[in-house]
Amino acid sequence: MTAPLIEVRSLHRYFGSPARPVRAVDDVSFTIQPGETLGLVGESGSGKSTIGRTLLRLIESTSGQVLYRGEDLGAASSSRMRTLRSKLQMIFQDPYASLNPKMRVNEILGEALQVHGLARGRDARERRIAELLELVGLRPEHASRYPHEFSGGQRQRIGVARALAVEPEFIVADEPLSALDVSIQAQVVNLLCDLRDRLSLTMLFISHDLDVVEYLCDRVVVLYLGRVMEVGPTAALFAQPLHPYSQALLAASPKPDPEHKSEYAPLKGDMPSPVNPPSGCVFRTRCPHAIEACATARPELRDMGQGRFKACIRDDITPAAALST
Ligand SMILES: Nc1ncnc2c1ncn2[C@@H]1O[C@H](COP(=O)(O)OP(=O)(O)O)[C@@H](O)[C@H]1O
Ligand code: SF4
Ligand SMILES: [Mg+2]
Repeated sequence: MTAPLIEVRSLHRYFGSPARPVRAVDDVSFTIQPGETLGLVGESGSGKSTIGRTLLRLIESTSGQVLYRGEDLGAASSSRMRTLRSKLQMIFQDPYASLNPKMRVNEILGEALQVHGLARGRDARERRIAELLELVGLRPEHASRYPHEFSGGQRQRIGVARALAVEPEFIVADEPLSALDVSIQAQVVNLLCDLRDRLSLTMLFISHDLDVVEYLCDRVVVLYLGRVMEVGPTAALFAQPLHPYSQALLAASPKPDPEHKSEYAPLKGDMPSPVNPPSGCVFRTRCPHAIEACATARPELRDMGQGRFKACIRDDITPAAALST
């Protein structure tokens, strides 16, 4: 196997006071291979955005490491980090909030280029901006417009163009579709898909839309209460989720085909507070398969073969067994 582009090792991010920590991310490890799109799914509040931000060092970790091509980002100096910034970019959920309303598109993109010393000189900059707009399906004349003159979908294209301006290798896309009308989400998905392939981008794709994750991602990490419940190749995980939480999450996702009803019971109740996570398996208070032993030890992620991992002590929960509960 080739060396991973991104390696996350035992990442922790706690908020609040040390006496009463909010365990937003609690011992998370995974890798992303070059060119791979890794999906990160889980209910709201499970720690997805915190992981995304910590990965790019937009916020600091409490402990653990993030390695980019083997280099520990947490140990990088601020000048080294400035250099690395161009390799590591973020596409935000709300393109409007992340674009300066007082700047024209050419200024927004020009600024991104200038910060990293790319496309120096007026002609080169204008050429590059036109190229970027074309890349995301906008027209050169859009360069002189302000963000409010665009539709939501077009604004997200500008957000994508800004991220791509610096020729990144790795992109964190944090719910990039959730602020968009359903009718234009597919266009933006197709754009991301196309760009990823053309530019050989590596991506962490954060979403609660499981259909999009299934379409876009090579592998998936399932997160619950700041911990990884399951990791696996997308097709296998969606066809046969191994962890009870993945099973419940997939059951809750509406399927376009009503004939194809899920065999799993959907989730009940709310996620507990990360201030006070359950002992042992954090999912046990909502797990239909919980047994006494689940309260004592914290399940490690176990290798189930074929690139699949689950953090659950029970091995008798096959899809058929799940049917009978
Ligand atoms: N700056 C912060 N201060 C305190 N708690 C935070 C902060 N950011 C996130 N959290 C908490 O961390 C947990 C994970 O949040 P987040 O990473 O945003 O989850 P997700 O993106 O999966 O919805 C939540 O309980 C949230 O309230
Ligand atoms: S360890 Fe126990 S509580 Fe946790 S998912 Fe497995 S069966 Fe459910
Ligand atoms: Mg989030």
